Amino acid sequence: MSAASLSGRRILVSAGPTYEDIDPVRFLGNRSSGKMGFAIAAAAARRGAQVLLVAGPVSLPTPEGVERIDVRSAAEMHRAVMDALPVDVYIGAAAVADFTPAQVVGDKIKKRPGEEGLVLELVRTRDILAEVASHARRPSLVIGFAAETSHVEEYARGKLERKKLDLICANRVGVPGSGFECDDNTLLVYGAGFEQVLGPASKAELADALLDLVAAR
Ligand code: PMT
Repeated sequence: MSAASLSGRRILVSAGPTYEDIDPVRFLGNRSSGKMGFAIAAAAARRGAQVLLVAGPVSLPTPEGVERIDVRSAAEMHRAVMDALPVDVYIGAAAVADFTPAQVVGDKIKKRPGEEGLVLELVRTRDILAEVASHARRPSLVIGFAAETSHVEEYARGKLERKKLDLICANRVGVPGSGFECDDNTLLVYGAGFEQVLGPASKAELADALLDLVAAR
């Protein structure tokens, strides 16, 4: 059976980590490789969608037929995503930093004699996914991801409701064979009155299975 077409649909995908600069040599980051989001962008382009991929700092080639915007920080990702609206579907697979340093120090932070610790003040970043979902030009379908180490369904459903999403794809992180960096994953997809387990399978296969759900809606 051939995959359902997404021809004519505009799909915006975020992928990868964000890097939050502390000073000119240091940053706060996370383990996201971008593989999950890039697989979704590639699969959507193969189905004929017009795909814009907003990518954090990753070392992956741009999938064929995909337009890509590279960003570094959560603030840059926020701007790129908002500038791309309106779209039909937004899929937030990026691991966006929840906190960023209150100030970026202009010069490299030096150790001072006798100083045994360093306190960094962090402030919250803007929640891109929640803002897309409550935007005046809200996409018809807003899909989030949830990276969890425990209480997967409870936390994912909490995000589904709080952020006003149509679907959320929860995945376990911190265990081998799913989540960050690896080629495979398992997605627990939740919606209102909806629950489906996708995988375990390769991220490419999961991207296609997720897009079957998108096409069905
Ligand atoms: O990139 P890979 O190595 O392939 O790994 C894939 C993945 C584990 C990164 C991916 O499958 C995944 O789970 N992505 C979301 C990771 C995450 O940040 O989850 P969260 O539970 O912290 O965030 C929930 C949702 O809110 C996510 O859709 C996130 O993009 C979004 N968010 C979070 C914070 C923020 N400031 N803005 C956001 O849009």
